[in-house]
Amino acid sequence: MNTIIEVNNVSKTFGKNTNLNKVLDSACMFVGEGEFVSLMGASGSGKSTLLYLIGGLDRNFEGNITVCGKDIGSLKDSELSDLRLRNMGFVFQFYNLVMNLNVEDNILLPHTMAGKKRSELRSSLDEILEITGLTEKRKAMPATLSGGQQQRVAIARAVMGEPQIILADEPTGNLDSVSSEEVMHLFTRLNKEKGLSILQVTHSEKCAGYGSRTVMLENGKTVG
Ligand SMILES: Nc1ncnc2c1ncn2[C@@H]1O[C@H](COP(=O)(O)OP(=O)(O)OP(=O)(O)O)[C@@H](O)[C@H]1O
Ligand SMILES: [Mg+2]
Repeated sequence: MNTIIEVNNVSKTFGKNTNLNKVLDSACMFVGEGEFVSLMGASGSGKSTLLYLIGGLDRNFEGNITVCGKDIGSLKDSELSDLRLRNMGFVFQFYNLVMNLNVEDNILLPHTMAGKKRSELRSSLDEILEITGLTEKRKAMPATLSGGQQQRVAIARAVMGEPQIILADEPTGNLDSVSSEEVMHLFTRLNKEKGLSILQVTHSEKCAGYGSRTVMLENGKTVG
């Protein structure tokens, strides 16, 4: 199996001088191409920190992170943005939708902003609305949707650019158990049918169980 994410001896320290907080301490892990991996660990153990480093949202770390064969530490800012836009989709706990745009405009936003025409995106949009079960809601405003539906819009937005990887930080952290299951079924489907590699942070054993493998963060190191 080829790896799509590789984390080698990654350390990350916050703070200065006498107030240092070493959150990651030579952490190592990988995600294989087409794998669905869950990342667990106590609150404050550094899960979000690691996910953001992998996603190139924070470039200040020691060690090596390779995503889609690229050593992200040695990329220029523009190359890293490009890798993010083309290869990675992000899903967060609090959906991060634009409340005054309807469902389909939210899903299209990163791409219309990058200069793509709506007509070019039309067939991918229809397919993604179908997969995420949002076809009927395509013109709805986010505020009229349930939390689970809003999270599905966020996932649709993340997969719209046909990324190879989804990075999800507690995607069900704000959802009831029924909506959480819907989101996990959707991830499973995207993983199986579209071959998307998924790395999700979760506090839920049940959600972690939808993945094929769980990595634990403890004392700055990864276990498992
Ligand atoms: N921007 C920052 N500046 C300073 N310290 C930070 C920053 N971000 C995170 N930390 C610290 O790093 C540690 C790990 O935080 P992180 O958010 O990665 O934990 P987590 O495992 O995601 O926790 P949770 O399960 O609560 O989301 C915490 O001690 C936190 O205070
Ligand atoms: Mg976190």
